Amino acid sequence: MINIQWDKLGFDVVPTKSMFKATCSQNETWKNGAIVPYGNIELSPAANVLNYGQGAFEGVKAFRTIKGNIVLFRADKNAARMAFSTRRLCIPEMDTQFFMDAVMKTVKDNIDYVPPYGKGSLYIRPVIWGTSAGLGVKPASDYTFMVFVTPVGPYFKKGIRPLNLKITDQYHRAAPKGIGNIKAIGNYSASLYPLSQAKDEGYDEVVYLDAADGKRIEEVGSANFFIYKDGVLKTPSLSGSILGGVTRDSVCVVAKDVLNIEVEETDLYIDDIEHADEIFCTGTAVVVSPVGKITFNEKTYEINQNEMGPITKKIRETILAIQREESEDIYGWLKQIR
Ligand code: COI
Repeated sequence: MINIQWDKLGFDVVPTKSMFKATCSQNETWKNGAIVPYGNIELSPAANVLNYGQGAFEGVKAFRTIKGNIVLFRADKNAARMAFSTRRLCIPEMDTQFFMDAVMKTVKDNIDYVPPYGKGSLYIRPVIWGTSAGLGVKPASDYTFMVFVTPVGPYFKKGIRPLNLKITDQYHRAAPKGIGNIKAIGNYSASLYPLSQAKDEGYDEVVYLDAADGKRIEEVGSANFFIYKDGVLKTPSLSGSILGGVTRDSVCVVAKDVLNIEVEETDLYIDDIEHADEIFCTGTAVVVSPVGKITFNEKTYEINQNEMGPITKKIRETILAIQREESEDIYGWLKQIR
């Protein structure tokens, strides 16, 4: 019998019953895999992922809906992105059907860990890496793919209260023509030091500027970035060093189609923040999180009196309503698991 206080869930690992594990050699395709008990794994200290960071991951969510179903939200988009990430990192390309089957098997076997309707979601973490031991810098000969799950609530400790962000011009998250546009493990390690400094200074997260000329806003360490001004919703275009977020895409679609808002994928600058009506960030983990304050070089901009704005609220509610089957799934974004 599991004993979880659903109302107290944050964004942390809660051990569950089982996980999915598959292995594959360099010139093979992904075909075998199985559900195994949840627990630690063994790894050579010379494993490619530990020494050279050959690894990628995804974040997907399953929801218990108002209709009593359990659904995945746009997992096919994550499957496609995992295929893209593996290609870029010389990992045998993840087959999208294999990915979907693994995700579905893991959720089904851990179905009791999907939070009750309205109390959070089951966060699904597919992760893939070079397992074999090696010393020279080259792709591994053997790979492991695992899927683990954990019930989650809000990503940020303060729930959905507006975030206090810091723009850094001291660190970059990703370089042009680098790996910022894939979900590589290393992109997140690059963000740890700026993030811990920002947290020590009282901020929730860091906003990164582009590494080419340091003028354009790219993304937040754990999320994509949006500005709303005078009826137009703008987000940085996918220039090559920005992650193509699944929630980012979903927000662009619903803002345009459902809410009749003009959407522009474009360049965004610090000036745009100064004049913004609303700002929010998006991601599977953060969903749609309002931003109340942004500081750059000692100057703090307060957005919408540090309150969640009406457009941010509407967009957040529209996405959540689709995920929880409170509104019709007009785009076919949900995959029913049970
Ligand atoms: C997600 O939104 O799912 C992410 O992967 C971002 C972060 C938690 C690493």
